[in-house]
This record gives sequence, C-alpha cells and structure tokens, in this order.
Amino acid sequence: MTQTYHPVISSTGLFTPEESISNEELVASFNAYVELHNTQNADAIAAGEVEALHPSSVEFIEKASGIKARHVMAKQPLLDPEIMAPRWDERSDEDLSIMAEIGVKACEQALKAAGREAKDVDAVLCAASNMQRAYPAMAVEIQAALGIDGFGFDMNVACSSATFGIQTAADYVRAGNARSVLVVSPEITSGHLNWRDRDSHFIFGDVATAVLVEDISMAPAEHWDILGTKLKTVFSNNIRNNFGFLNRATPETEGKADKLFVQEGRKVFKEVVPMVAQMIVDEAERLGVDPTALRRMWLHQANAGMNRLIAQRVLGHEANADESPTVLDTYGNTSSAGSIIAFHKHSEDLVSGDTGLICSFGAGYSAGTVFVRKAG
Ligand code: COA
Repeated sequence: MTQTYHPVISSTGLFTPEESISNEELVASFNAYVELHNTQNADAIAAGEVEALHPSSVEFIEKASGIKARHVMAKQPLLDPEIMAPRWDERSDEDLSIMAEIGVKACEQALKAAGREAKDVDAVLCAASNMQRAYPAMAVEIQAALGIDGFGFDMNVACSSATFGIQTAADYVRAGNARSVLVVSPEITSGHLNWRDRDSHFIFGDVATAVLVEDISMAPAEHWDILGTKLKTVFSNNIRNNFGFLNRATPETEGKADKLFVQEGRKVFKEVVPMVAQMIVDEAERLGVDPTALRRMWLHQANAGMNRLIAQRVLGHEANADESPTVLDTYGNTSSAGSIIAFHKHSEDLVSGDTGLICSFGAGYSAGTVFVRKAG
C-alpha cells in the first residue's frame, strides 16, 4: 500500500526588531528633507528647472493606509534627512548575514513552539521579497546556522512569498520528499523602500516570520490542518522594483528611483481587491467551506481599506477586528510576512474545528490562499 501524507502547520515564529518609527517621527524627518531640498534648490526651483517637493502628513498616512508605526532594523539613518536609507556595519563572509540572522530567530521560535529539534527538519525555504545577495541562497545559510541536514532554497514572489512557500512545503510533504519544512520570511523591506518618495515613504517595515509545515504523523497534537492552498499570478507593472545585477546604475541612470519600490497605488487597490476576493470565494467553494462562516481571516497587511473591502466581499458583512485582525498599525506593510504575523499573533484563541484563512497578495500580481482548520 502506498503511504499517504497530510501536511499541517505545526507552529509559527516571529522576530520583531526592537526599534520602531512612529508616523510623527517619520513625517518630521521627511519634511526636514523636503525643506533641505527646497532651500538648497531655491534658485533652480524659482527658475522652473527643479520641482519643489511637498511635505508629508501624519493624517494622510493614517487615513490612506491605516499605518501608525513600523519596526525597523536601523532607525537612526532612516530618519537622518541626509541619509534616509538603512545602514549597518559590513559583516565578513564568515559572520551570519543580517537577513539570515533575523530569519534564524523566527525559525528558532517556531521550532521551540513545536517542540522540534533542528535535526528533524528536512528543508528550509527562504520565501521573501528581496534577498540580500544573489548566492549562496539565504535559505542555505539559515539551514546551516540552525544545524539542519537537508536542503534549502530561496523563492521570491514578493508579498505572496510566504503563502507560495507554504504551498511548496505542503507539496513536498504530500509527495513524501520531506516531512518537516521551515518556510522563513525575513523581510528587511527598509532596504528597498524609497524613504524620499512622498507617495510611499510610510508603507514598509522590517520583520521575520517562520512557519513550520509538517506531516501530521510528526506534528504536535495541537496544529492547523491545511484544508487547501491556491496560488495565482497575473503580470502587472503596477508594483515594480528594477534593482538587479543586470540593471546596474550607469552614469545616465544613477540615482533613478526605479531601483527601489515603485507603485501605482490606486490601480493596485482597484485591480487587486476584486481579484483576491473572487479567488477566496472560488477556493472556499472548491473546498466545501462556507466563506461567510470563516472564523477568522489573516489577510495580507498592506492597506486597511483593501482588507476592509476584501473581508466584506468574502464574509458578506463588514468584518470586525476579531474576524479580520490587523497588525498594519504597528508593523506597517511587511510584505510576505504580514499575514503570517497576523496569524501568529491572533490565532491562539481559536478552538478545535475553527476554520480560517491566511491570504496574501501583492507584486506580480501574486496572490495565495491557505485555508486552515484548528486541530487538537
Ligand atoms: N502626505 C500627504 N499627502 C500625500 C502623501 C503624503 N505622504 N502622499 C500622497 N499625498 C497626496 C497626493 O499628492 C494626492 O493629492 P491630490 O489628490 O491633490 O493629487 C492625494 O494625497 C492622494 O494620493 P494617492 O496616491 O492617490 O493616495 P491613495 O488614497 O491612493 O493612497 C496608497 C495611497 C498607496 C496608500 C493606496 O493607494 C494603497 O494602499 N494602495 C494599495 C497599495 C498596496 O497594497 N500595495 C502593495 C504593496 S506590496
């Protein structure tokens, strides 16, 4: 008889950087930069050769996004109007890299929560928006730091990386190619955010999450059954970052902002909300789950307005904080980690039999759903 495997989520882990930037601090720094720019370029601005910059506002940020603060790995340089980018000491190749370091911390927490030893894990998928380097893979460095004997690789599906990672891990388990897989999402988004861009300087924050996907035969009694996963991608240029070794700056392109995050926020909002809501409803139907009876939705944390609309279309009524919890207010948009932070922080109170949904969406476009049911 062929053996069958059943992937479940055994545990999760979260690393939160100590430092946090409030909207007030962020706007004060941005507006100091604006003033500096406008003063330094006063003549050119008066001559119509350079555009004057406009100040940002706390009220706009909160109303447009729901974000009130964001954690970061290096606060001081981000707020320095002369720098406005993350800075840390260069590490030697022998030292653990910064992205691996925070990934390891999240993984260690997930392993501890499941009572799992690293030697019993088979694979590490580093699923995140931006890798620190081309190679060796971040996942392999994290695997080595944890002492895992197996394999690891990196995967990037922008904000949907974690859900794509969960499906990939679940497929490895289903196929019998691994029994225990860590999906780790270290998101140092402060490195790819343009802190000088008024339209987006408030959006992102830094964090790392980990999800341990395992065969039910070795999972702790209390776990989350994976009822089904669904992935979708539709090409769009509305969220884009052209950074890469084939797109290196030349004297002509030096300083161009397209090597950092750029988006058409309005278009993203309009196009992604209906796509994701429909995807959730269709997948619920396929799985025989009543979407209006979902106990909780852990949605991607990009924008409070988007989540309000998606949750309403799925549940059939305006979701309250218990049905669709937010971490956006204190974490900002943490790319692929957002829905996992929400799941990690707001899932303990659910009881056996409760059904919920982890859902991500973002650049690509990409979207992923993971329907889960509490067991044990
Ligand atoms: N402070 C004050 N005013 C600002 C501002 C700031 N920081 N940034 C923009 N504005 C102004 C604009 O100049 C514009 O003014 P105008 O109407 O006089 O032209 C106005 O606010 C509206 O700007 P807009 O960019 O259209 O805002 P928005 O309401 O669409 O909100 C986003 C912007 C980005 C928050 C929103 O579009 C969004 O969240 N979209 C989805 C993004 C997303 O999920 N992306 C995924 C990333 S992974």
